[in-house]
Amino acid sequence: MKVSLLGKPLGEADGDVLLVGLHSGAKQLPEPVRRLDHAVGNQLTEILKAERFEGKPGQLSQVYTAGRIRAKRLMVVGLGPSDQLTPETIRRAAASGARRARDLGARVVSMEILGNTLPVAVRARAIVGGVILGTYVFDRYKKEKSDKAIEELRLVDSDAARAREIRDAIHIGEVFGGAACFARDLVNAPANDVTPSQLAEVAAQIARDPRLTLRVLERADCEKLGMGAYLGVAAGSDQPPKFIHLTYAPRRRARKKLAIIGKGVTFDSGGLDLKPADGMLRMKNDMSGAAAVLAAMRALPDLAPPVEVHGIIAATENMISGRAQRPGDIVRAMNGTTIEIGNTDAEGRLTLADAFCYVVSRVKPAEMVDLATLTGACVVALGPLCAGLLSNNQPLADRVKVAGDLVGERVWQLPMIDEYREGLKSEVADINNVGPRGGGAINAGIFMKEFVGDVPWVHLDIAGPAFSEKDLPLSPKGGTGFGTRTLLAYLTDLK
Ligand code: BES
Ligand code: MN
Ligand code: ZN
Repeated sequence: MKVSLLGKPLGEADGDVLLVGLHSGAKQLPEPVRRLDHAVGNQLTEILKAERFEGKPGQLSQVYTAGRIRAKRLMVVGLGPSDQLTPETIRRAAASGARRARDLGARVVSMEILGNTLPVAVRARAIVGGVILGTYVFDRYKKEKSDKAIEELRLVDSDAARAREIRDAIHIGEVFGGAACFARDLVNAPANDVTPSQLAEVAAQIARDPRLTLRVLERADCEKLGMGAYLGVAAGSDQPPKFIHLTYAPRRRARKKLAIIGKGVTFDSGGLDLKPADGMLRMKNDMSGAAAVLAAMRALPDLAPPVEVHGIIAATENMISGRAQRPGDIVRAMNGTTIEIGNTDAEGRLTLADAFCYVVSRVKPAEMVDLATLTGACVVALGPLCAGLLSNNQPLADRVKVAGDLVGERVWQLPMIDEYREGLKSEVADINNVGPRGGGAINAGIFMKEFVGDVPWVHLDIAGPAFSEKDLPLSPKGGTGFGTRTLLAYLTDLK
């Protein structure tokens, strides 16, 4: 989809659909829309009245203009009360307008910069992001593909004084939205195609950008580094593990060095502590954290933040075989800590343990953020629309939370209750990889804290929001790309 700014008055906007917004409680159509409506014989006013259109968020209506204005259809989307307008309302309104337009066969869609409050750049960014996220489809594996797609999106605004600002906002919307869709594609593709080797291959393609470099550690390299926790998980799989290290270097001197780490378990059978069938069914999504990290790294050259960013993924499958790790095994992580395997299905934290050791000792970042589909317990606690956040550093936790809020990805902090370390005690090793059932998401956080040293760290447990069993306002069923945009907002210090 090509996105551009049309620097003309609304009346001169062409295309198959022209979308305008309407706040609830408005006594009449806003001035420019009233003029358009007048040109089409006040059809819009009439139809809105007949349909009891109240301007509720996402409410849609449209009229065919029969050549009386330049756009073929005039469509209205509800935005709710003006004083309650948020970027998320705009994203969702733009998304539902775009989907309706697409389903009507529209190829070229023009949109007013929806809403009459909030800075214009914030609104433009939200519109573009909303359209890209909301019209996403995954049909790579289908013979029959829909021929309905929006080819061009034009934001209409005739104020030349803010054209530059709007163009920059459009760019951010495109990059953020495109990145989340890239992550979705990786999550939606099945585990027989998205193997650890394939993730490394995707990393290699991303690293063709001159600002990025890639190092992939093979099993033997990881053995030399003493990554026993990660390799224990990989032991049962016929797919070789791939430890992926992407680096983004800014053009100028970096102001800071950051690391983002994604759980990259390309399929989680549970291992010998095998999952039941319905628990295993969706486990191709257990690399959603890795997908977000790859997508963010790929987007960085385009956004060019003045920071050095390291993207780390300890990719592996968690499978069963004669070589698989057993319950009760003891493995040694890269930092020397021995771990008793209380449950082979708590594999994500094992892969992350060595990823953290590597980051802390080799990369030495000022801050690190990991994303992981880590615990069912987090889904029980927060449900499918919110990620859990655990951290050893409150200022960093606050910044990541704000980044999530800005892009409409909900994260909620859970407490690091140090007393729960007790529950992870092992008779035979330094720590057990599982604790009591209660507080499962926190226990996982406490476990991983052993491996992050003094580095300020945020962990996002995205087990709930990474994958959706139903269509959402901004995402069809399947991988959501959750976390990608939060990462980008955090890395670029988006305001
Ligand atoms: N990948 C799962 C967590 C998960 C569950 C993600 C549901 C998405 C939806 C993780 O590896 C896992 O199996 N965790 C166990 C940990 C337990 C054994 C302590 C869990 O949550 O049951
Ligand atoms: Mn598991
Ligand atoms: Zn898992």
